[in-house]
Amino acid sequence: MYICICNAIREKDLRRVACEQSGDAEALYARLGFAPQCRQCLEDAELIVNEARACIPA
Ligand code: FES
Repeated sequence: MYICICNAIREKDLRRVACEQSGDAEALYARLGFAPQCRQCLEDAELIVNEARACIPA
């Protein structure tokens, strides 16, 4: 499933990079080589990032 239609960023790719990198969703998009365009996905993307990181053992 795509989380960002403008950049064709898949949810699984955002989850993976959230586990590997710090920063908010916009920073993670940059790590993937993208920049937000319409920005409508960012609120949901932040939820996915937080959810992905909650699963990482401290
Ligand atoms: S859907 Fe992500 S920037 Fe437009």
